[in-house]
Amino acid sequence: MTILAIDIRKAEIRDADAIADVHQTSWDGAYAGIIPHRALNTMISRRGPQWWAHAIRRATSILVVEIGGDVAGYATIGRNRARELPQQGEIYELYLRPECQGIGLGTRLFAAARARLAAYNMKSLVVWALEDNVGAVEFYARAGGRDIAEGVEVFDQKALRKIAFSWE
Ligand SMILES: CC(C)(COP(=O)(O)OP(=O)(O)OC[C@H]1O[C@@H](n2cnc3c(N)ncnc32)[C@H](O)[C@@H]1OP(=O)(O)O)[C@@H](O)C(=O)NCCC(=O)NCCS
Repeated sequence: MTILAIDIRKAEIRDADAIADVHQTSWDGAYAGIIPHRALNTMISRRGPQWWAHAIRRATSILVVEIGGDVAGYATIGRNRARELPQQGEIYELYLRPECQGIGLGTRLFAAARARLAAYNMKSLVVWALEDNVGAVEFYARAGGRDIAEGVEVFDQKALRKIAFSWE
């Protein structure tokens, strides 16, 4: 039997290629058929390895989850951006490679992101998910998130509803 070690740590410059790859495959998997093709392609192509290397260098808080030494997913975290919401922290993005979904890694990465925010004294947090991203909505509801607000995001003239989940 092969035992694969799971590790969650802060992203380093050497992870930029792998994170860009996770970003591309996970966004394609999550949003194809939801976000219009051209808008999705534009968002994905902007976030190549150089974009990620720059983000890591600028000390943006990025966590990666590794399985057997390979990056399987990432999360970006920081201060809550929505002024109308009182929560202190926010998980901006949490994405896993399609082949690494459904085996508990998202739950572990979410817990690590939450613990990291708490360590920065941000004990409450918010996460936004597109309503049509049923997998994400289900995941955050299962993780105990309270559905507290709604918004709209427009992609190439297509308006999509988004939901904010909070943890206190
Ligand atoms: C959403 C995501 C982060 C969840 O991580 P994951 O590792 O796949 O989820 P887990 O295996 O930890 O599952 C945790 C729970 O969520 C539920 N869940 C996860 N994905 C689900 C899906 N697609 N549909 C329904 N339920 C789902 C699981 O059933 C599980 O419930 P349980 O504890 O009762 O068994 C991951 O699937 C992903 O990256 N998806 C694509 C990108 C995305 O949508 N990211 C979020 C953007 S806001």
